[in-house]
Amino acid sequence: MATITETFTLNNGLKMPKVGFGTWQTRPGKETYDAVSNALKAGYRFIDTAKAYRNEKSVGEALHDADVAREDVFVQTKLPAETKSYDGTMADFDSSLAALDLDYVDSYIIHAPWPWAQMGSNHDAENREVWRAMQDIYKSGRAKSVGVSNFNSADLENLLTWDGLTVTPAVDQIQYYVGHTQATIVRTAKANQIVVQAYSPLATGGLLANADLAKLAAKYQVSVPQLALRFIIQNGVAPLPKARAMAHVEANAQLDFEIDDQDMATMNAMVDRDSYHPVGD
Ligand SMILES: NC(=O)c1ccc[n+]([C@@H]2O[C@H](COP(=O)([O-])OP(=O)(O)OC[C@H]3O[C@@H](n4cnc5c(N)ncnc54)[C@H](OP(=O)(O)O)[C@@H]3O)[C@@H](O)[C@H]2O)c1
Repeated sequence: MATITETFTLNNGLKMPKVGFGTWQTRPGKETYDAVSNALKAGYRFIDTAKAYRNEKSVGEALHDADVAREDVFVQTKLPAETKSYDGTMADFDSSLAALDLDYVDSYIIHAPWPWAQMGSNHDAENREVWRAMQDIYKSGRAKSVGVSNFNSADLENLLTWDGLTVTPAVDQIQYYVGHTQATIVRTAKANQIVVQAYSPLATGGLLANADLAKLAAKYQVSVPQLALRFIIQNGVAPLPKARAMAHVEANAQLDFEIDDQDMATMNAMVDRDSYHPVGD
């Protein structure tokens, strides 16, 4: 089986493809429609969007027009980081489903534990209230799984130790790339059967000119992006590369090679010299 269609199993038994297609900073309309259509043609079966990206409608149109059955695509969208109430969560979820024109999503996740303008501020009580709504959405069947994004270990523990918890988050989507692998969060997630998704797996392009990675990529006769994505998968984490150029979309779907243990160790020991990580663990 090609890597692009292999799956990780979430803590409720749902299968999630190991590689997702990211749509951040992809303009609504033709740009998103084309990117998602190309991704589906190239073999991706996991599309990641968010209400905040304002492109859910175009993602939905591409999904409806594609020659791929709905049940064969894993669709994930996100609750805006600014929404921190039960009713607000319900209303935002309804609006995302309507924009996507879908009966259900495969994954609905909280975009961040804090509103973007207050990054790092504490919203523990509100996040539990939001999670109450997420659990009800899950139980309604309109989201096949629910999870979080940008949650650090303390944010996860806030939900995991809550006496109202009936549904454990299935995923935590965090910034993760070679040199920035957020060991503390990953440890907490794995200990609680939460699958980690890697956003900005190419450091939003920052890894492309990395000379150490270029040397290793040449050894495997692959490109730096392919090496960087394969590294994430072999760490048991699901990368969400984003690309608008069709050549990039296709190249990033070719991940059927194996990085040996020694090179994995070398890559796991690399440190991000550019410090492109606004969200720490
Ligand atoms: N949860 C969150 O808070 C959060 C935050 C950030 C991102 N995300 C998710 O993660 C996804 C990916 O992160 P990201 O958008 O930061 O970027 P990324 O995937 O790390 O990097 C994307 C950049 O790399 C380029 N690129 C991709 N493949 C390439 C290739 N094979 N060769 C050369 N260049 C290549 C793209 O160019 P072109 O586009 O020109 O092809 C684009 O400039 C987002 O789209 C979003 O879905 C989530």
